[in-house]
Amino acid sequence: MDVIRIQGGQPLSGTVRVSGAKNAALPILAATLLTDEACTIENVPDLSDVRFMAEILRYMGASVEQLDAHTWRIEAKSIDSTAPYELVRKMRASICLLGPLVGRLREAHISLPGGCVIGPRPIDLHLKGVEQLGAKVEVSKGYVHVDASGLKGNYLYLGGRQGSTVTGTANMIMAAVLAPGITRIESAACEPEIVDLCHMLERMGARIKGIGSHYLKIEGVDRLHGCKHSVPPDRIEAGTLMLAAVITDSEVTVEGVVPGHIRALLAKMEEARMPCTIEPDQRRITVHPAPDRKPVEVITLPHPGFPTDLQAQMLAVMTLTPGLSILTERIYPNRFMHVPELLRMGAQIAMEGPSAVVNGTNRLSGAPVMASDLRASAALVLAGLAAEGETWIQRIYHLDRGYEKLEEKLQSLGAQIERLPDSALPSDLLE
Ligand code: EPZ
Repeated sequence: MDVIRIQGGQPLSGTVRVSGAKNAALPILAATLLTDEACTIENVPDLSDVRFMAEILRYMGASVEQLDAHTWRIEAKSIDSTAPYELVRKMRASICLLGPLVGRLREAHISLPGGCVIGPRPIDLHLKGVEQLGAKVEVSKGYVHVDASGLKGNYLYLGGRQGSTVTGTANMIMAAVLAPGITRIESAACEPEIVDLCHMLERMGARIKGIGSHYLKIEGVDRLHGCKHSVPPDRIEAGTLMLAAVITDSEVTVEGVVPGHIRALLAKMEEARMPCTIEPDQRRITVHPAPDRKPVEVITLPHPGFPTDLQAQMLAVMTLTPGLSILTERIYPNRFMHVPELLRMGAQIAMEGPSAVVNGTNRLSGAPVMASDLRASAALVLAGLAAEGETWIQRIYHLDRGYEKLEEKLQSLGAQIERLPDSALPSDLLE
């Protein structure tokens, strides 16, 4: 396993380009199962989660060819309806295979994904949705079995305890596009990744109205065609890189980002006096040094609210922003695995239920820390970039799930960060 070593205190400068969005690529790859024709997907991020989804599609019978590091060709001429435990348990996002299997095959046998460190990750809304589309659902021995021979359009309400469900919305859309009749989805998620999935499905022949809103109307069609589609830029990676500039008091331009995808972050950065310039081409944002940035309150909400996937990174920045900040998690109340590790670096954070109260200081000290989940790992990288001294981050396979060569991107901006084999760990840090 690899580790990351960071020598902190180095300001960044220059321009960095974001990769394709992991959370768009996964449902996009799943959606290729909806047609027996070939699909070519471009700008796919080179991530372990993506390679994993490709492995599952191959296992299910699709022909999956990687044309280059960021382009895949998938042809699901005939596929099996089972996504097995030994594959699904390693990536809970494989639940987004449910919709395509229900739509294309009228049946699905998918291992229940289980939870992860940020929370239980239930799929009750997914299952309620397919039942409302006329399917029979049975859960046994850790698998969900769906008989959708009677699939037909219907009214679906997707609101749950924490608002809508992103992959649940993706699943219902992918089932409904091939369901006879009209499906109306109320309280649909409207994250940019869902908007992009709808645009891809339209390109394949789907009929969807209300794209980008919480209310979708879908007219089912008999079949969908193959397509060529490009994965949109990763708004969470863009936000992570922007916050890396802030925490190191640097000027950095992030290229490829769509400002309209991160309005909540931009608004919060403005409130916190973290100056940003949206370049005229609307595809580059320059972050400027923020010496007098101020503490803020952040509450994570479904889109267009502040994204939960940027909470850990913003919290890292607040540990070096003098004053009291409060970050409240409304999506995953336990999503604070980064806090104990930031405390080891000298941060001052107190947990109050789903809120972290951060007393910003003016220094962090580098330390050996442990990655635990994807975005917590990113928060530790940001903290390491700004900390005095050396930070070693172990278990960085968490990072590799959602960031393509993050250390190389940061190196290109001047950061003293490197990926090393774990044999390079100082002996006193060996697990
Ligand atoms: C997607 O997960 C993202 N993953 C997550 O990104 C992201 O944090 C999350 O949306 C919220 O924005 C992908 O797109 C692959 P949800 P998803 O269903 O779809 C509850 C990252 O770091 N819920 O929108 O699984 C759930 O417990 C990852 O890139 C139910 O109660 O999230 C949570 O509290 C992490 N019942 C809330 O809704 C359900 O049936 C939002 O979950 C489904 C969800």
